[in-house]
Amino acid sequence: MAPTTPPSPDRRALVHVGCIMDGNGRWAKRRNLPRTAGHTEGEENLARLVRVAVKRQVGWLTVFGFSTENWVRPRMEVRHILGLHKKLFGRVTELNELNVRVQWMGRPFESAEARTPKYVQRAIRKAIADTAHNTGMVLTVAFDYGSRAEMVHAAQSAAAQGPVDEAAIDRHLYLPELPPVDVMVRTSGELRVSNFMLWQSVGAEVYFTDCPWPEFDADELDAALALVNR
Ligand code: IPE
Ligand code: IPE
Ligand code: MG
Repeated sequence: MAPTTPPSPDRRALVHVGCIMDGNGRWAKRRNLPRTAGHTEGEENLARLVRVAVKRQVGWLTVFGFSTENWVRPRMEVRHILGLHKKLFGRVTELNELNVRVQWMGRPFESAEARTPKYVQRAIRKAIADTAHNTGMVLTVAFDYGSRAEMVHAAQSAAAQGPVDEAAIDRHLYLPELPPVDVMVRTSGELRVSNFMLWQSVGAEVYFTDCPWPEFDADELDAALALVNR
């Protein structure tokens, strides 16, 4: 008898890890380096962690890169972080090798409140287009993102179309395809969720670690994944 081909795995059933990448500044300060050096190392570490997450067969990795509240930081630091996001979204060759599809979520570029500059928008659009064919892990970078802004946007868009219930909000989140978060990570010892995916993480396990983001490695990810009951 001919072997039956196994059904393709349901992507939404794979593990979704959320990461609040905190502690870059403190990591740098401990080394007598400028805060910007911490952000640079944080970006490098994200690239390393993406590789590890792919190996662990994580389905969805969603990271908090920059919040709607972070714009009040010193202009120099903000400029540095913007440059790092351009670099991050420019890692297309690496992401294609890993079969990783990139997504972005944040205040829609065309909305009045959006603050993402044009040159970062271009990098984001290009990364999304150039990795759209990948079928492996989905890496979502939250930039100019705030959960409250997202929920207001979802409620308004839902109301424009009909009755507002939970399913309607779900359908109008920035990225409705994202499954619920299974485990939410926050690095560097803060026990806060800081306006990150409040709607999506309602049933999530939470992994708080003292480890600063630039040092969040395979062992740390494994500790977070161990909390997911499957
Ligand atoms: C996280 O590191 C990166 C961003 C919020 C952009 P921080 O810059 O918040 O580092 P700490 O918390 O000051 O150490
Ligand atoms: C949370 O870190 C936001 C990101 C990681 C992008 P912050 O360092 O900005 O958060 P708070 O202000 O300490 O809660
Ligand atoms: Mg911080």
